[in-house]
Amino acid sequence: MSILVTGTAGFIGSSFARQRLAASNEKIISLDALTYAGHPSTLLPVMDNPNHLFVHGSIGDKALVAKLLAEYKPRAVVNFAAESHVDRSIHGPEAFIETNVLGTFRLLEAVREYWQELTREEQSQFRYLQVSTDEVYGTLSREEAPFAETNRYEPNSPYAASKAASDHLVRAWHHTYGLPVLTTNCSNNYGPYHFPEKLIPLVIMNALADKKLPIYGDGQQVRDWLYVEDHTRAIYEVLERGQLGETYNIGGWNEKTNREVVYTICTILDELKPREDGSCYSRLITFVKDRPGHDRRYAIDARKIEGELGWKPQETFDTGIRKTVQWYLDNQAWVRLVTDAAYREWLEKQYAG
Ligand code: NAD
Ligand code: TYD
Repeated sequence: MSILVTGTAGFIGSSFARQRLAASNEKIISLDALTYAGHPSTLLPVMDNPNHLFVHGSIGDKALVAKLLAEYKPRAVVNFAAESHVDRSIHGPEAFIETNVLGTFRLLEAVREYWQELTREEQSQFRYLQVSTDEVYGTLSREEAPFAETNRYEPNSPYAASKAASDHLVRAWHHTYGLPVLTTNCSNNYGPYHFPEKLIPLVIMNALADKKLPIYGDGQQVRDWLYVEDHTRAIYEVLERGQLGETYNIGGWNEKTNREVVYTICTILDELKPREDGSCYSRLITFVKDRPGHDRRYAIDARKIEGELGWKPQETFDTGIRKTVQWYLDNQAWVRLVTDAAYREWLEKQYAG
């Protein structure tokens, strides 16, 4: 038995690959285009695992995907591959349409053709799982109830719109062709191997390098943080026991303002790696120009996955963020490997002035 997993050299896909390879003997065929956000070093812990096969390529390469499906006959496909950074989607939305919309479309077509050739028994066992985000639901006011699966799709950023489009394609491939699909919509993740363009790893690494810690706007935007391994455990539960054609929201009831998150990181660093001059890391905090169209609040109502599948997060924000800060302290070599000249150019463009 095997599972084809895409986007495994990235943050969440690599967590899924590590978790599954540690938990079972099932083969993982991992497909990743190795964009700026995907790095082979992220997969180092599983590169020598005989149950892991890494393939460098794109989900948009239908012939390659078809070949992998024919050769390995996976019982499931889990699609993590995507362009994932909102700020980059504002500067250059085209890559998001190419990968998240067209890439998902081509992947779905390859999977459909493969699935249609399976025996009835194999067809009924097969699953395609689309990993999506809570950002497809738009933004919440302070008073509104968290996002439930029944909320309308109201994406606000090019990233969110491209993810919404791919979710719609997945839904249509189920309703029209009968492809056995599942979709998960998760809140913001954090944890090891998070590319340091995103808030939490950026703040940790900037703090260690004595650089400014940029908070957009007033820093009162709220995100609902989930430790990455809790997310990948939830995905596996949905893959194994979720109801076909259904969507599952995943979140840990951990709403925090960006200010709270950044101050928490500073406090942990003050304890774990005190600054030589004795000053607090929080003195590096700086409020910068807001993100255009910045969504004010995301929050997940996770009662469906908790009730139907019995999934619950194992980490609280306090335990998860402490582990995460410690991981970055212990793994600065990984950060050096994944941050190249193109990364520095991105920082200059995004944080100029
Ligand atoms: P990431 O940017 O860290 O990793 C994405 C990976 O996909 C990279 O390894 C990249 O090389 C690969 N990739 C990009 N284009 C590809 C293509 N055409 N073919 C094959 N591989 C390609 O992203 P992430 O944070 O790990 O997110 C994974 C998925 O989870 C995405 O679909 C994202 O929308 C979703 N998601 C992320 C979060 C979050 O907080 N990071 C929350 C909810 C959902
Ligand atoms: P991010 O990690 O980019 O995730 P998303 O935009 O998908 O939620 O950002 C998390 C929050 O942190 C978001 O409200 C934007 C904010 N933010 C900053 O304040 N400063 C930064 O430098 C970055 C990257 C994000």
